[in-house]
Amino acid sequence: MKNQILLSGFVLAVSFFVMAIPALAQDVSYKSDISPIIHDYCLSCHQPGGKGYEASGLDMRTYQSLMKGTKFGSVIKPGDSFTSILIQLVEGRAHSSIKMPFGMSGSLSKTNIDLMKKWVDQGAKDN
Ligand code: HEC
Repeated sequence: MKNQILLSGFVLAVSFFVMAIPALAQDVSYKSDISPIIHDYCLSCHQPGGKGYEASGLDMRTYQSLMKGTKFGSVIKPGDSFTSILIQLVEGRAHSSIKMPFGMSGSLSKTNIDLMKKWVDQGAKDN
């Protein structure tokens, strides 16, 4: 009896795992998913001459400059969206006065925020 319970637990765990694989395998792409969001919602301020760049040093024109971060250091921690400053800001988890995109009444759509989170959690790759 005990073994049967253990066995069905095991079978359940394995089938969960197998079901989860396709979801995990769907890679978010920097080029086709993330870069367009940055272009539409961030770049106007985060490039030389823009408010965000002048205030923080964060230049979002390229993958390399994005990963370099602000003058104080990186804003993305690959594999960890929860502690990544950039994600905290777009989610408004830091102080609401510095929610990004800065000064815009709304925020990014949930779809866009989820894409950015997933991209960071998948390692923030230059893909
Ligand atoms: C209207 C201008 C503007 C837009 C659009 C904008 N930002 Fe910013 N951003 C700023 C300003 C200004 C600061 C400096 C804020 C401060 O330090 O008080 C900043 C700072 C930041 C920082 C650094 C915070 C720190 O640690 O100092 C990050 C990360 C950031 N922005 C991400 C984004 C992202 C992601 C987007 C697009 C979704 C975005 N910003 C859109 C103006 C903007």
